[in-house]
Amino acid sequence: MTLFEAVGGEPTFRRLVDEFYVGVAGDPLLRPMYPEDLGPAADRMTLFLMQYWGGPNTYSAQRGHPRLRMRHAPFRIGAAERDAWLRHMRNAVNKLDLEPQVASALWDYLERAAYFMVNAMEDP
Ligand code: HEM
Repeated sequence: MTLFEAVGGEPTFRRLVDEFYVGVAGDPLLRPMYPEDLGPAADRMTLFLMQYWGGPNTYSAQRGHPRLRMRHAPFRIGAAERDAWLRHMRNAVNKLDLEPQVASALWDYLERAAYFMVNAMEDP
């Protein structure tokens, strides 16, 4: 069974990402980086995570290869942005009430991916 199935499929990923974007919407550091309409951005993130965890490949059918570092190159992502992103994601994961093992697999990936996305050094 894939993690996608284990967590309950698409509705769970939708809940995760919707909750994450509630955090982003109220974040003074992150909000300006995102488009005015967060709906399509939430959809891209949901489809990407579903695909990553073994669900349908709708993300790549619509967007092509993820190449996430490249897609994040236009945004300045330093430690502060990474930590803010992870804080909202942590809250969102917690709200899902998943089995501890599943939650930690999901979280370990998100944390690693967020560190990988950093593309800017802090000011000296
Ligand atoms: C897109 C910020 C980390 C997955 C975006 C966008 C922003 C952003 C501003 C554009 C929104 C849109 O129009 O789609 C950040 C910041 C991060 C971060 C500040 C901090 C580390 C991550 C991580 C993942 C991820 C760790 C995956 C686990 C995505 C995806 C898209 C996206 C799938 C849409 C790509 C596309 O198809 O165009 N991100 N991101 N991001 N991000 Fe992130």
